[in-house]
Amino acid sequence: MTTKEHDSKIKRVIISEQEIQDAIKKAGAEISKEYDGKPLLLVSVLKGAFVFMADLCRAITIPLELDFMSASSYGAGTVSTGTVRIDFDLKHDISNYHVVIVEDIVDTGRTLKEIVRLLKNRNPLSLKVVSLLDKPDRRVVEFEADKVLFTIPDFFVIGYGLDFNEYYRNLPYIAEYDTSK
Ligand code: IMP
Ligand code: MG
Repeated sequence: MTTKEHDSKIKRVIISEQEIQDAIKKAGAEISKEYDGKPLLLVSVLKGAFVFMADLCRAITIPLELDFMSASSYGAGTVSTGTVRIDFDLKHDISNYHVVIVEDIVDTGRTLKEIVRLLKNRNPLSLKVVSLLDKPDRRVVEFEADKVLFTIPDFFVIGYGLDFNEYYRNLPYIAEYDTSK
């Protein structure tokens, strides 16, 4: 893809880099306060949440450990396939940790509902979910994150870790993807 084609699909910025960073600072401070003195494990769901994880962990000022897992409910387009596949799993035994799942977006809710079910079965000390974005209009299963940084309408969004066909994850802001043509 040429740079021109790439850029022509970025319709408009909906959350700026500064707005994201401000919200992350606040969330990081809240998490630091809530988990002070507790063994904290941040779990990121790849690939979409990797940028958020990188910034959020640096906004947290208490000791913490990180782990990663990968799941997908989307194929190569903008439409959910309706199934959740765990592509790879955590390295940690989470039973001695307070776990915070760090996600990019709650859309249909399928991915997080399944991951939460899976991880709760492993008896963590506690389990919460923080999501950068929430699209409540798109929900098909009941699911609410414990903390959401931004609630957005039903746009397909790209940037700050979120992709369309693997592109645009490197944008420092959240933009609406142009689904026309
Ligand atoms: P779910 O439908 O809530 O299971 O969403 C699962 C995954 O779909 C998210 O973690 C994202 O990776 C992806 N996704 C959902 N909405 C968008 C979007 O607007 N842009 C890019 N990826 C999305
Ligand atoms: Mg994706």
